Amino acid sequence: MKVGVVGLGYVGLPLAVAFAEEGNDVVALDADPRKIDALAEGRSYIEDVPDERMAALAERLSPTSRYPDLSSCEAVVICVPTPLTNSREPDLSYMIDAATSLAAVLQKGQLVVLESTTYPGTTRERLRPILEESGLAAGRDFHLAFSPERIDPGRTDFTIRTTPKVVGGLTEECTRRAVELYNRICDTVVEVSTPDAAELSKLLENIFRSVNIALVNELAMLCERLDIDVWEVVEAAASKPFGFMRFDPGPGMGGHCLPVDPFYLSYKAREHDFYTEFIELAGKINQNQPQWCVRRIERALNDQGKAVKGSSVLLLGASYKAGVGDVRESPTLKIIRLLRELGADVSYHDPHVPELADFELSSVPLEGSLESADLVCIVTAHPSVDYTDVVERSSLVLDFRGVTRGIEAPNLVRL
Ligand SMILES: NC(=O)c1ccc[n+]([C@@H]2O[C@H](COP(=O)([O-])OP(=O)(O)OC[C@H]3O[C@@H](n4cnc5c(N)ncnc54)[C@H](O)[C@@H]3O)[C@@H](O)[C@H]2O)c1
Repeated sequence: MKVGVVGLGYVGLPLAVAFAEEGNDVVALDADPRKIDALAEGRSYIEDVPDERMAALAERLSPTSRYPDLSSCEAVVICVPTPLTNSREPDLSYMIDAATSLAAVLQKGQLVVLESTTYPGTTRERLRPILEESGLAAGRDFHLAFSPERIDPGRTDFTIRTTPKVVGGLTEECTRRAVELYNRICDTVVEVSTPDAAELSKLLENIFRSVNIALVNELAMLCERLDIDVWEVVEAAASKPFGFMRFDPGPGMGGHCLPVDPFYLSYKAREHDFYTEFIELAGKINQNQPQWCVRRIERALNDQGKAVKGSSVLLLGASYKAGVGDVRESPTLKIIRLLRELGADVSYHDPHVPELADFELSSVPLEGSLESADLVCIVTAHPSVDYTDVVERSSLVLDFRGVTRGIEAPNLVRL
């Protein structure tokens, strides 16, 4: 089969590779010429796809920035970004651009699947009319479906093959075609009756996480007042073998999904005079978490008789989660901004993020930096860092991730 993948980021590139590894020919399209050049040279820019895997696929995966190259594909999967605008409303401009370009080359009999996370109704109300500007009718001349992506960058225990894939087509035949496509790369495909149900199922998954993270973050704030160790509480609750799912507190949510996706649903709900209060409340708590972390930093320094102003603060981890280099919406960025406003001298160490150009900062080596900082904060706990060593070499450590549990030291404070 010949499959086109549009948008080769954290979602699209691993997907294109999965199709190619299963013996399909893949037209891999991106609007960013740097990504196309890298792929043409066999270089991957996504941690989960090592260069060796790319090299083995040179024959089957054709990188391109030309939409006409998609006309020979039997199926085209769209994986472009769906961020928020500055006023925190859905920004569908990338999807609209991709769909407009695709409409110009769309062929009879092709299957088009949208994978970008979005509000229910997008595939039917927004994508379909653009594709039909081709003169072809969805459900009759071409097939259309939505299938949410569940990739979790950095995760190795579940793969594209072992993670069930939800699919909802515009018609029964659209669903059948989409199921057939994903059966090539996934062991389990879960059919739902409409694209809208598939779209909403993805939002439910992410809102579930956002609400539960907010709950445990709020509990962490209360535990500070009550002088109870929140990690001990979470650990104890998680020993229940049923009816409880563990979520850990932290410095706030980051990435392209959790801080963004829930607001796609609240936007859609407002169109129907409905207010999604859980989403708003969880968003408020999680977005304020970096502010709370900065108050904890102020207190930790204060207890040493130091002001934030003029203190050197070393942040460990700039990306939003362990093991990846993605800094989108990372709480570390907010913490840097807030600390700088207070006059701190901020530096960071992150083996996955060599520089933060917006802050004119480069990752510093641990050697020497740990010893000289007034305070070292563990913001994102990359597994490659030895945290026992961090505590031993630093004068003061504040751990927002609970990775120092089990270590008792006078210079260590945990969230
Ligand atoms: N990152 C994740 O962990 C994750 C997980 C599940 C779902 N998603 C969803 O998947 C979608 C993509 O996310 P991502 O993290 O892969 O984004 P990304 O920014 O890493 O990649 C998107 C790619 O699309 C390209 N692009 C933009 N406009 C284009 C156009 N008109 N034509 C061709 N290419 C274009 C960009 O150059 C970029 O390479 C989003 O809707 C996101 O919410 C992301």
